[in-house]
Amino acid sequence: MNFGLIFTFLVLISSSNSAWLDRRSESYECINVTSDIFKPLEPLSPTDGPVTRCYNLELVLTDLAPDGFTRPVWTANGQYPGPILQANHGDRMIVNVFNKFGDPATIHWHGMFQKGTNFYDGPEGITQCAIPNDDKFTYNFTIKQNGTYWYHSHHLGQMIDGLKGPLIIYNPKDPYLGKYDFEYVMTLSDWYHAPTSILLPIFSSDSYRGFAPVPDSGEISGLGQYDCKAVPKNSTCNPNNKIATYVVKKGKKYRFRIINTSALVHYILSIDNHPLTIIEVDGTLVKPVTLNTIPINIAQRYSVILDANQEIDNYQIRAHITDCTAIDNKTLNFDSAINYDVTGILKYDGAKDKPPTSNPYHLNTSEECSDVNPNFLKPYVEQKVPQNVIATFKALVNFGAAASGRGIALINNSSFVPSDNYPTNQKIVDGIKPDELSNTDNPYTYECDSGDCDDAAVEIFIINNTTDSHPFHVHGHDFFVLYNGENNSDIKSPQKSEFNFKDPVIRDVVTVLPNSTTVILYSANNPGVWLFHCHIQWHLSMGMAAQLIESPSIFKNTIIPSDVTALCAKDRG
Ligand code: C2O
Ligand code: CU
Repeated sequence: MNFGLIFTFLVLISSSNSAWLDRRSESYECINVTSDIFKPLEPLSPTDGPVTRCYNLELVLTDLAPDGFTRPVWTANGQYPGPILQANHGDRMIVNVFNKFGDPATIHWHGMFQKGTNFYDGPEGITQCAIPNDDKFTYNFTIKQNGTYWYHSHHLGQMIDGLKGPLIIYNPKDPYLGKYDFEYVMTLSDWYHAPTSILLPIFSSDSYRGFAPVPDSGEISGLGQYDCKAVPKNSTCNPNNKIATYVVKKGKKYRFRIINTSALVHYILSIDNHPLTIIEVDGTLVKPVTLNTIPINIAQRYSVILDANQEIDNYQIRAHITDCTAIDNKTLNFDSAINYDVTGILKYDGAKDKPPTSNPYHLNTSEECSDVNPNFLKPYVEQKVPQNVIATFKALVNFGAAASGRGIALINNSSFVPSDNYPTNQKIVDGIKPDELSNTDNPYTYECDSGDCDDAAVEIFIINNTTDSHPFHVHGHDFFVLYNGENNSDIKSPQKSEFNFKDPVIRDVVTVLPNSTTVILYSANNPGVWLFHCHIQWHLSMGMAAQLIESPSIFKNTIIPSDVTALCAKDRG
């Protein structure tokens, strides 16, 4: 024990030396990783320098019943949610993907900057071609970030079918380390009984006139329940499926890392009798703020500290669903039997096996489809907002109709279509100029080719001209939320005087409220091709996306590894 403490101390001292970050242990073993999300997560022990973490993910179809209804699930190593991947700050991560799905696949590392490795970012048609069935592909990147992230497929609707899991990066110097005893990961998700190989072709067909397909259930950490009366004949369904149960010891504190991995729905999370103290937002630490209910939109993450200081008993975990898009009787699965109030159990060690009788906190409906008030979220260490704005874009978000009458989504009047067989990063490297890209590529180009690019800022006004709220995400960056407009108030451009330049929250997914404008700003310090999109999977497939072509004059000299380019040859052939 003592030895451990001294050892950690030495590591911290030597880490002030930058050579430390470049020292990398050469030998590593590749692990066929699986995990139990209901067991406390064992943080990786600190090492005396960055190491390589190598994980094998076999993508296989497995019959599972996350909500009691049995269906084939697109799993990683047979698990849904996918296994928890872990690394320490500075580590290299190697992930060997063996695709046995029978479909092409890709994996995106949500929130990873991929500095210098844009070609391992994952979105199909933007940074790579898909990994064909029966093929192997290796992602390989170095992580200089901390916190709670996740990975998911970026091929068609495959993430909805199950390919998604947590990715946790430890900072040995995390100032919150002494403030809790154990940690858990919790994912929130929606779930569909029909695979997207059925849903997506209907949703995208010329004759479809409905809205985003309605899910069949919601899940906490991959477990939910379903009223089996509504299932088709000949299917297997258990109406008493077990629900998510997290065991805590009285007197201990727990860090819960919460991730909304849904395709469509927004969640409000609460745990009866237990206020939750937010300490991390999308990988950035914040000053502690304690709330009873936490609204969390798609792809967002929060770390919260829960104090198990109540009587030994069972307490209800409540994950309240809101479908923030419209539903009508032309919408796929509009008569879904979904239960919008998903439950789990916080079980104190020693409590009897009986259902909780605890009372819910007041559900604030104004939190539906929105973010935790950005004014509550203050970066733990204040960061200077870069002042040297090199580009300002307006992204006007609309719905419209294609010639056939099918619904599409538009950014500045153009609906995004990925060129799956010839990714944009390859085009730039092949010498195609950004202004030669096609309209449906939705390219937005800017250059920081000299000076301090950390201080060179790109500003995006996301102008939501729809009555839905949209969780917008930028690949390869996190961003300052300078302004988050209220419903219906300010579809017109907000004034600079209204922006928060002092202590804005830093995150990688922000909710843009209906008929309002949100302004984000990030550093142009990562040359590459980065997708900017709404994280509602159905809106992405309708074209609610654009590509940020960052510093092409530098990026065009990138050498894309031959195994990445080779995927396209296979894809085309
Ligand atoms: Cu979670 Cu395009 O990303
Ligand atoms: Cu959207």
